[in-house]
Amino acid sequence: MLLAIGSDVHGTKDGRPQKLMIKLKGEVREIDYRKGETILDAALRAGLFPPFACQEGVCASCKATVKSGRILMLKHEALTPLEADQQNIFTCTAAAISDETVVSFDE
Ligand code: FES
Repeated sequence: MLLAIGSDVHGTKDGRPQKLMIKLKGEVREIDYRKGETILDAALRAGLFPPFACQEGVCASCKATVKSGRILMLKHEALTPLEADQQNIFTCTAAAISDETVVSFDE
């Protein structure tokens, strides 16, 4: 089941974001994002070390918060409706679909 999270719905024409900002351990980094990859994969490819384990949307180790932009979660078995309302995502199953997306692993 797909779940869209976020308030800024200004996506690009092809759905690919132009910027992905990651906040991790107090630092903010703008990284390259490739259409279709997960937020976690983009962060790892950029050399960041966010927490993760199962990479299947089950364990919640990779949970982060959407600060701006729009995210599409492909799988979210362990995410409660309240967590989704609070802009929480599992980055291992989430794709960025807006021009600018900011995700924080610190909250
Ligand atoms: S790594 Fe387990 S839910 Fe993302």
